[in-house]
Amino acid sequence: MQSNVTNSNVQFDIKNEGLKTAGKKRIEWALGRMPVLTLIKERFAKEKPLNNISVGACLHVTTESAGLMIALKAAGANVSICASNPLSTQDDVAASLVFDYGINVFAIRGEDNESYYNHIQQVLDTDPKITLDDGADVIATIHKSYSEGNRSITLPWASTEETTTGVIRLKALEKENRLLYPIIAVNDAQTKHLFDNRYGTGQSSLDGIIRATNKLIAGTTFVVCGYGWCSRGIAQKASGLGANVIVTEVDPFKALEAVMDGFRVMPMVEASKLGDIIISATGDINVIDTHHFPLMKDGVLLANSGHFNVEINLEGLKGLSLEVREVRPLVDEYTLKNSKKKINVLGEGRLVNLACAEGHPAEVMDLSFANQALSCEYISKNHSSLEKKVYTVPVSIDEAVATLKLKVMGIGIDTLTEEQKKYLSSWQIGT
Ligand code: ADE
Repeated sequence: MQSNVTNSNVQFDIKNEGLKTAGKKRIEWALGRMPVLTLIKERFAKEKPLNNISVGACLHVTTESAGLMIALKAAGANVSICASNPLSTQDDVAASLVFDYGINVFAIRGEDNESYYNHIQQVLDTDPKITLDDGADVIATIHKSYSEGNRSITLPWASTEETTTGVIRLKALEKENRLLYPIIAVNDAQTKHLFDNRYGTGQSSLDGIIRATNKLIAGTTFVVCGYGWCSRGIAQKASGLGANVIVTEVDPFKALEAVMDGFRVMPMVEASKLGDIIISATGDINVIDTHHFPLMKDGVLLANSGHFNVEINLEGLKGLSLEVREVRPLVDEYTLKNSKKKINVLGEGRLVNLACAEGHPAEVMDLSFANQALSCEYISKNHSSLEKKVYTVPVSIDEAVATLKLKVMGIGIDTLTEEQKKYLSSWQIGT
């Protein structure tokens, strides 16, 4: 395995050192929009809550996760990061993290599966006490290796998990009683999923589609598969840009909610015939499947905003196609054998917001990564009393993040009077 080391012993495997100046400028721009994380970083720099602790992250390597790595380093941690998706790494950010901020980075945009897992291994080789995952690939790697009999791995004290898909995988492990150490499900914090998943995914997915295609969204029929927090954000933003939005769902409550939010709801086979743009953000496999492709309009755009590239059945699409050619950067055009219809897939079916744009804006990642930073501090203080369970972020952290964000935005709110508190904790007063 390749391993490069700088003069100051920072390890790395990145695309190009020469990109560091551009990366630093972009990191500074993002940091300027992450005031909550900055306040935490400043406190961390004084209190050093992670002094000499090895922290290993598997996150999208972006300007925003750079901010988190810098805050953890300010806390005294020895920080390493690899990518949580082969196509989301910003190579300029990776270079700046290594050469300007002294952080170990193992990530190259466009890397193959072998390199992706080698880089995870390089992070694990630093023996992290705390790991941060986005999709649970580090945790799964550790658990697979352990279940294959490798008991020599030192298990982390605990790990955090950033995303819905990762939390689903980890709850499955917990259910099978196979979880080897505690997890903090950062995704489940209110200040994470209600904002990052909805407003972050909503805006950045549209951003990805537009950057890749320059398509006018107004007047299009825009199909959103799923109506969880991410997909409802996408539906809302597409509608705001003038699209006629159709939602597909399997959950009757969510389907009903989509109807009452003003969207058309119908089965995927019907929606497939109508969509000019079809995007999936369900977290499930083969949502856009082989039997849907022949029904689609000529020239349709397909995108995925779920964590893994499994939502569009690309193998199935390839099997139905005469040829595949890149028609724009990050846009592959598949020509169907029978009808000669063209189907355009964005970002190789990987997260369109990170593959074709820059991911969620810094203002919203400020909330998510404030939760991550404070959860790392919480783990360092409390790991010995945590069990092998999936925990939510302590409410005190979640509330502190919301309160700080309002404060930095200059927004005041009311507090309950004594009379109101008493009323809310009593049953006597009615009609
Ligand atoms: N996930 C979605 N957007 C992101 C970003 N900007 N940075 C890191 N992870 C992300």
